[in-house]
Amino acid sequence: MSNLPPKEFMPKHIGIIMDGNGRWAKERGLPRSDGHVAGAKVFRTISDYCHEIGIEVVTFYAFSTENWKRPPAEVAALMKLFKEYLTEADEIKYDRQKGGYILRFLGDTSAIPKELQKLVSSTQLDATALDTTIVNIALNYGGRQEILHSVKQIAEKVERGELKASKITEDDIAAGLYTAGMPEPDLIIRPSGELRLSNFLTWQSAYSELWFSDVLWPDFTTDDLDKAIMDYAKRNRRFGGV
Ligand code: FPP
Repeated sequence: MSNLPPKEFMPKHIGIIMDGNGRWAKERGLPRSDGHVAGAKVFRTISDYCHEIGIEVVTFYAFSTENWKRPPAEVAALMKLFKEYLTEADEIKYDRQKGGYILRFLGDTSAIPKELQKLVSSTQLDATALDTTIVNIALNYGGRQEILHSVKQIAEKVERGELKASKITEDDIAAGLYTAGMPEPDLIIRPSGELRLSNFLTWQSAYSELWFSDVLWPDFTTDDLDKAIMDYAKRNRRFGGV
């Protein structure tokens, strides 16, 4: 925690693509699902740490709309991990005494297994009323799907005569996203050597600073996060100005 910039240079919202679990497992001759188990531990460490250092919002890419194409055993192993985590969620979610954080889910959770859906909806809290870190888990999430979801809501308003097409604004689109009311990600981190965003926070990342590293997600540490934040703080963000 000693290696962090002053508060005004800290990112408010950090997005993290938890990549490299499969390769981490392969390097050790383990099944891919073991990589996800190791990755889930790091998810906990990093979400706790973001809370500790006062990050307002941290969004983890846990399962994309494309991840259903993976072998059924791997999908099942991931769903099991989410379930295990959420079963403990009472300990984790916001509690003033315990000083915990708020869990939120981004994505089309209507398509995940019913049992998990129940856990997700019992965990979802109204984030706007509380003043602690929000930990977003992107689950069955796709950035384009999210924009489409927002646009459909707007189209329905137009059809009902509540909104004129010529009056649609960027704010209307942002208001229909799963991140409505949250700051846009200042910093997006992708470990494991891949240099792309893979449909993560597609609308919200327009001005995000991107930070890549070769470390595989299960090896990612709080020191790596500190380094990403320090690099971010040194960058000069102009938002299209001079
Ligand atoms: C991508 O790495 C990772 C995923 C598709 C899953 C990420 C999910 C977790 C780490 C579990 C999080 C747990 C909770 C409770 C939120 P990959 O498997 O594609 O890696 P590879 O590119 O090396 O094959």
